Amino acid sequence: MEVAVTVKEVRDQVKEWRRQGLSVGLVPTMGYLHEGHKSLITRAVSENDRVVVSVFVNPMQFGPSEDLESYPRDMDRDVAVCKDAGAALVFSPEACEMYHDGFSSYVDMDTLTGGLCGKSRPIHFRGVCTVVAKLFNIVVPDKAYFGQKDAQQLAVIRHMADDLSYGIEIIGCPIVREYDGLAKSSRNTYLNDTERKAALILNKSLLEGKKLIEAGEKDADKVRNVIIDIINTEPLAKIDYVELVSWDTLEPVKKISEPVLAAIAVFIGKTRLIDNFIVS
Ligand code: PAF
Repeated sequence: MEVAVTVKEVRDQVKEWRRQGLSVGLVPTMGYLHEGHKSLITRAVSENDRVVVSVFVNPMQFGPSEDLESYPRDMDRDVAVCKDAGAALVFSPEACEMYHDGFSSYVDMDTLTGGLCGKSRPIHFRGVCTVVAKLFNIVVPDKAYFGQKDAQQLAVIRHMADDLSYGIEIIGCPIVREYDGLAKSSRNTYLNDTERKAALILNKSLLEGKKLIEAGEKDADKVRNVIIDIINTEPLAKIDYVELVSWDTLEPVKKISEPVLAAIAVFIGKTRLIDNFIVS
């Protein structure tokens, strides 16, 4: 497995693979890889001849008061995880390789990005769309893999790939959880022992919401309130949002009659965690 740091190195390698008639998959990440990322890479390896994993903590998607500086990084471990999972190339550029002096072009979206995480992170999806568009242009993969834990991001990227006619298949992969149900996230490392226990309230509340829906509840507000009430039993938890939205438009629903995304963002201490489920 190779590690590339420049756009040119990636382009040359992919060009050679294409000359050999090989298919290429892309797994975009911000590194500090965990089992969730590994499941994306493993799936990509099973569906493509060659897999590129990008490891880039994208400054453009962090707001001024967010955790860009403290975001966990461990490049040596990431390279080992990628190699072990069967990736062919890791692309790990410096910020100046992705955003040269005078960079001033962005990919933005009028729909899907205003609610949920977009509400409390107003510049986030512009940063995500811009960097993912750049990665698509650099790698030009056949397929790209994203986790369902960032459900809004998955919907936004699918929409962007369609709007901008990338012709890349966007594959959403299931959430991977810890043994006790906590969704895997690089940000889980911020939690101390007490917070780690408190964070279980996210999955616990969602499981109750899901149970209610599976039992036939159609009133989205009722389900939402049950989730909110359960989260509020945890003193360390502070709700950012609890929403039931259409999985198609990401607009809030009143009645559960179409594919619905139940998505939550909760602060546990200073750490903001997200989780969700989709009812189809
Ligand atoms: O999900 C992430 O890790 C990031 O948002 C992504 C898609 C790699 C873009 O920086």
